[in-house]
Amino acid sequence: MIEVKNITKTYGSGDTAFQALKGISFDIADGEFIAIMGPSGSGKSTLMHILGCLDTPTSGTYKLDGKDVSKMDDEELADIRKSKIGFVFQAFNLLPRTTVLRNVMLPLIYAGVGEAEREERAARSLTAAGMTETHFLHKSNELSGGQIQRVAIARALVNDPSLILADEPTGNLDTKTGEIVLGTFQKLNEEHGRTIVLITHEPDVAEHAQRIIHIRDGEILSDKKHVQRKARQHIQ
Ligand SMILES: Nc1ncnc2c1ncn2[C@@H]1O[C@H](COP(=O)(O)OP(=O)(O)O)[C@@H](O)[C@H]1O
Ligand SMILES: [Mg+2]
Repeated sequence: MIEVKNITKTYGSGDTAFQALKGISFDIADGEFIAIMGPSGSGKSTLMHILGCLDTPTSGTYKLDGKDVSKMDDEELADIRKSKIGFVFQAFNLLPRTTVLRNVMLPLIYAGVGEAEREERAARSLTAAGMTETHFLHKSNELSGGQIQRVAIARALVNDPSLILADEPTGNLDTKTGEIVLGTFQKLNEEHGRTIVLITHEPDVAEHAQRIIHIRDGEILSDKKHVQRKARQHIQ
């Protein structure tokens, strides 16, 4: 599904140029659950922005489903984001005085999906993310941290993406709530076949993936298959 070859990313130019990625290569197969782990500043978010077609590499190639995205223009990148990729960010901002259901419907407005179908798909993806129907009409500022992150996952799923990219999705959560979120990703991977790339600086979190790529200072230190640790808290 993903083929990354010798990707570099340089921010700025001249004296202030900074190379955040220094030649990164890996493949990710359809249906894999992989973690990209590294300390703060190692280039994880930079890499995720490239994988998510939010940015392009300075050099190297990135192929998604056989298509070279390194050279696409903004419109083509936006199309891919809309149809193939779901994002879960740590700094996820739901609209506070808006219902859970409406928050999840939002990406579909941009995708041009009609109202009735938007509602139906939002409800389905909330259920897949483990939200109970009684919460659908709650305002998002009435939710707990774990519930907010489930809404974030539902929102990432609503365009039916084959690839889910999650940047530090458990970063603001206590351990127990984090386990629930990781269990949700495992379920989406196992039962729904989604390819998941989980970005984290925490080894405990990375162990929930099937494979871990370690990066440091913009370079890959290791890329290993791993015995997946099952999340303790499965959603009901
Ligand atoms: N837009 C930018 N302009 C300049 N430097 C940046 C920019 N974004 C990130 N960097 C630098 O690139 C390095 C990697 O950043 P980042 O990818 O955010 O790392 P991580 O997500 O692993 O913490 C850091 O040193 C950061 O300061
Ligand atoms: Mg980051």
